[in-house]
Amino acid sequence: MKNIGIIGAMEEEIVALKGKMKITEEKNMVGLTFYVGTYAGKNLVLVKSGIGKVNAAICAQALIDRFDVEKIIMVGVAGSLSAELRVGDIILSEDAVEHDMDTSPLGDPIGTIPRMEESYFKADQELLRLALESAKEVAKDYRVLTGRVASGDQFICTEDAKAKIRETVGGMCAEMEGAAVAHTCYLNNTPFLIIRAISDGAGEDAGLSFEEFCVMAAQRGSVLVENLIGKL
Ligand code: ADE
Repeated sequence: MKNIGIIGAMEEEIVALKGKMKITEEKNMVGLTFYVGTYAGKNLVLVKSGIGKVNAAICAQALIDRFDVEKIIMVGVAGSLSAELRVGDIILSEDAVEHDMDTSPLGDPIGTIPRMEESYFKADQELLRLALESAKEVAKDYRVLTGRVASGDQFICTEDAKAKIRETVGGMCAEMEGAAVAHTCYLNNTPFLIIRAISDGAGEDAGLSFEEFCVMAAQRGSVLVENLIGKL
């Protein structure tokens, strides 16, 4: 049985699953600790990537090269870009884009990676379908929607920054790693899904909201991912 890679950027995003999985080995490389073990009868490699796109891409590539994962699920928190979403709601990625990729002075649309065929990386349809089934089972008093995840090396905390992302690349939520994992998975032909629970509205009070709701949102994402692993 092949491994399933699970990435969270921060400790809060992996702590619940780390506590529940049976860890058989810890491996250290590229500055990261990979927890190898099982959960719900599946072989998992769980890892905290660290924050930002470079950390996330390196982490995903290590999972693929060194742990032979057959799919990658990224789980964590995000800021909402949509008036439809409340703190605690969850977004499942339809696709992911790097909102801070900008060669517009050369004539490219913001978000487009020059000289690459793809810039909007599509999540695996089967993982998405199964995660929606999980949502029906676990999401009793909050909503789980599908949509675009916009990633960049910025904590979004102004209405202007939110509007710019919405107007340029679109997206339901903003975070700092998903599209880098998606990009890495695209280049390696590895299926992926991003699961993001809303910790803040990405507006002026995002910092305070993040501090208050990060742990709750991260736990919500974890509950969904745990159920999803059971279905894989
Ligand atoms: N992760 C959680 N909230 C975020 C925000 N507002 N911007 C970027 N990443 C986030």
